[in-house]
Amino acid sequence: MALITSTKMFEKAIGSDYAVGAFNVNNMEIIQGIVDAAKEESAPLILQVSAGARKYAKPIYLVKLVEAAMADTGLDIVLHLDHGEDFEICKKCVDDGFTSVMIDGSKYPLEQNIELTKKVVDYAHSKGVVVEAELGKLAGIEDDVNVSSQDATFTDPDQAVEFVERTGVDSLAIAIGTSHGAYKFKGEPRLDFERLKKISKMLPDTALVLHGASTVLPEFVEMCNNYGGKIPGAQGVPEEMLREAAKYNICKINIDTDLRLAMTASIRKMFSENPSEFDPRKYLGPARDAIKEMVQHKIKNVLNASNRL
Ligand code: G3H
Ligand code: 13P
Ligand code: ZN
Repeated sequence: MALITSTKMFEKAIGSDYAVGAFNVNNMEIIQGIVDAAKEESAPLILQVSAGARKYAKPIYLVKLVEAAMADTGLDIVLHLDHGEDFEICKKCVDDGFTSVMIDGSKYPLEQNIELTKKVVDYAHSKGVVVEAELGKLAGIEDDVNVSSQDATFTDPDQAVEFVERTGVDSLAIAIGTSHGAYKFKGEPRLDFERLKKISKMLPDTALVLHGASTVLPEFVEMCNNYGGKIPGAQGVPEEMLREAAKYNICKINIDTDLRLAMTASIRKMFSENPSEFDPRKYLGPARDAIKEMVQHKIKNVLNASNRL
């Protein structure tokens, strides 16, 4: 087993009806829960690390934990930088042994995004590392979702073609209505499938990526609410929409919020039922189990990625 790039994974997933799960990792229990689920499901796996995760755990710990996870499970894993904000962090991750990096230039005008992405692609490719970029801006719950503001922020299909051609990027994150966190939609959940279909038709060989794709599982929101501070109004992307998106070249589906909710719900429940407990293994162990169960559910029922190795 080894750290691998996502190239072959995406070649298989493109044009299919499944997507690879990309899960954000911050510590040992999260990594163990995810890899044990992927192992049981024989599913391809991307573990991703944000700048915040690098700061929290230190890069070397995360790299070594992922190496341990591969040795323990025999799985090949993609180690990916999530939302790299500049060339320097992408370079650091490439040099640290990551096999995939995301350069997120989505906040810049098109030309600047292309220039920055191309610089990262040139460096990463020279070291055998693949690159994800982002074009368009993810919706925020506070944003007005009227058609004109949507057109201004969602990924423009013509620009996407130009962007991929000029940067040589390996995969492209697109904005079609998802957003990060637990509050994704003001009213009815809605994704712009027409836009997605158009982009996948115009870029038939490019793996597309969906950020902000947690389903915000009601059972965990309810558990969090029952055992502590409330998370009112939480709303995620419906499972059937994600399954549908996988049919149109969404090859990578990013999940972080659902991991946070599963872990927090389990820990809150534990402390509520055992307020005098102070052995960390007694709350981190069940939290790890909750993550494993949730990830297994995702792989089977949302990503449709079981037995795809
Ligand atoms: O897209 C962002 C991920 O959920 C990572 O979040 O920057 O708080 O680690 P973070
Ligand atoms: P969620 O907040 O929906 O889990 O999205 C995570 C993500 O896109 C990480 O890059
Ligand atoms: Zn993201």
